[in-house]
Amino acid sequence: MAIRKIARMGHPVLRQKARELSREEILAPAFKTFLNDLFETMVDYDGVGLAAPQVCESISVAIVQYPVDAEPVVVINPKITVLDDKKQGYWEGCLSIPEIRGLVYRPRKIKVDYLDLHANPQSVTVEGFGATVFQHELDHLDGVLFIDRIEYKPGASPVSFVEEYSRYHAPKEDDDVGELDD
Ligand code: NI
Repeated sequence: MAIRKIARMGHPVLRQKARELSREEILAPAFKTFLNDLFETMVDYDGVGLAAPQVCESISVAIVQYPVDAEPVVVINPKITVLDDKKQGYWEGCLSIPEIRGLVYRPRKIKVDYLDLHANPQSVTVEGFGATVFQHELDHLDGVLFIDRIEYKPGASPVSFVEEYSRYHAPKEDDDVGELDD
C-alpha cells in the first residue's frame, strides 16, 4: 500500500470527467491495490472522503467515511438522485484546495446508486451532512469543485481561509451548519 500525492486545484485532472469502470476492471487485483492506496491516502490526510481524480486517476470511484467511526463506503460508477431538494448550507473544505473553506448549499437528501467492490449494484440514502459529503465527492467525478458552487453576494464572505473561518464563520453550537474537509 502507498500514500498517494493529492492533486491540488489547478491540476487538469480535477477538471476532467472521470470514466466509468467495467466489471472486469472492478474485479481486477490491481483495482484492490488502488482502493487500498486511496483509503490510506484519505486517512493520512485526515479526510472524510476522497475521489480517485484527487490522486490523479480519472476513474469513477470515491470513498466516503462519514461519520468518522462508520465503515468506509466505496462507490463505483455512482449516480445521484435528489430526494429532497430543500437546500442546506455547510462550510466545505477539500484536500485539493487546502486552507480554504467555502459555504455551499446543496440538496438535503439524496439517493446514490453505485457498484460495490464485487461489481454488484447497491444503493444508499443519505441526508444532512452525509448528503453533502457524498455530493462533494461525486462532484469530483464530474470535474466539479466546491468553489464552483459557492453563491457570492455583496457583503457576504462565503469563501474564507481556515484561520478567518475559525474566527468569523465557525458555527455556534445551535447553528445547523457544520464543516467538511475532504
Ligand atoms: Ni474535495
